[in-house]
Amino acid sequence: MKRKTGESYCLGIESTADDFSVGISTFSGKILANIIDVYIPPKGGIHPREAARHHAGVASSVLEKAFKKAGIKPADLSILAFSQGPGLGPCLRTGATVARALASYLGIHLVGVNHCVAHIEIGKLETGTEDPVTLYVSGGNTIVSAFDSGRYRVFGETLDIAIGNCLDVFAREAGLHQRVGEPFGAVVERFAANGKKLISLPYTVKGMDMSFSGLLTAAINLFKKGEHKLEDLCYSLQETVFSMVTEVTERALAHTEKKEVLLTGGVAANKRLQSMIKAIAEEHDAEFSVIPREFAVDNGAMIAWTGILAYKHGVVTPIEESFVKSRWRLEEVEVPWVK
Ligand code: ATP
Ligand code: FE2
Repeated sequence: MKRKTGESYCLGIESTADDFSVGISTFSGKILANIIDVYIPPKGGIHPREAARHHAGVASSVLEKAFKKAGIKPADLSILAFSQGPGLGPCLRTGATVARALASYLGIHLVGVNHCVAHIEIGKLETGTEDPVTLYVSGGNTIVSAFDSGRYRVFGETLDIAIGNCLDVFAREAGLHQRVGEPFGAVVERFAANGKKLISLPYTVKGMDMSFSGLLTAAINLFKKGEHKLEDLCYSLQETVFSMVTEVTERALAHTEKKEVLLTGGVAANKRLQSMIKAIAEEHDAEFSVIPREFAVDNGAMIAWTGILAYKHGVVTPIEESFVKSRWRLEEVEVPWVK
């Protein structure tokens, strides 16, 4: 098909945490497939090795579904991208192994992609933003970033746990019941909608960085005391954590004077967070965009698209340099495709 249409394709593999996902993009940025298979732990949080076992188990069927959806064959691929970090070691290694095997079998170049850069790039592609302040809030990350001098700089981030994790742990500890397919963060949002009383919780912003673990402990302790309505606790938890991240985003916006704000990550689905970020964007005459859920959560399409951007600027990852980097920071990555 590549030969017939003259189009080139990249397949992207995402496996940093609990998702195993395969996306296929054309070199001009048309996403042809984005298949996501989520590992759901039987109980409690994610165990990296069990998630990795899940990824290895579903890899071939997810790949097959992606090729079918895209209507192309493996031989049509020009390059193959994979998330090289940051993330959970065993999960990353499983994705990297699949990527290496497939790329060597097909005799095509491999491109190692930074997961955080990929969240920003797919956001720009999907929303048409060009130079935003990006707030990336998920189960494992809370990062406020913006482009400056060749890289995406981190303006503020969490010093301990991520916002999504904070909401998830609280919901689990408080025994909140999930509806089918409902993430814990969305359960907190549902309860918070019926909360009215703002209960004081620790608000910790140090410089531009945030801390959520003390606040989480305080919220759990208040729940255990049983003096407050669960709805009020969820409401207060949301208001406090979202105010913290909104304050940091606003300061990044004021400092950089960018004219766009992009909200991404699984937590971006939260309507209250959206309205708070939208409000500060408007105050600074910046345009607010939120990424559609399919592309806000961890997904293979973002890896495929970022792999294309990098490859077009001469970036390839030789097999011997394709080891995973579980602590690979956003600002370590040069992004020559951004001007
Ligand atoms: P990453 O590897 O990027 O850290 P992740 O594995 O945590 O990502 P995502 O799907 O991006 O995966 O994010 C999941 C998080 O989003 C969970 O913490 C979940 O509770 C949260 N979430 C989902 N929907 C909502 C919502 N409506 N409100 C708040 N949080 C939400
Ligand atoms: Fe992510």
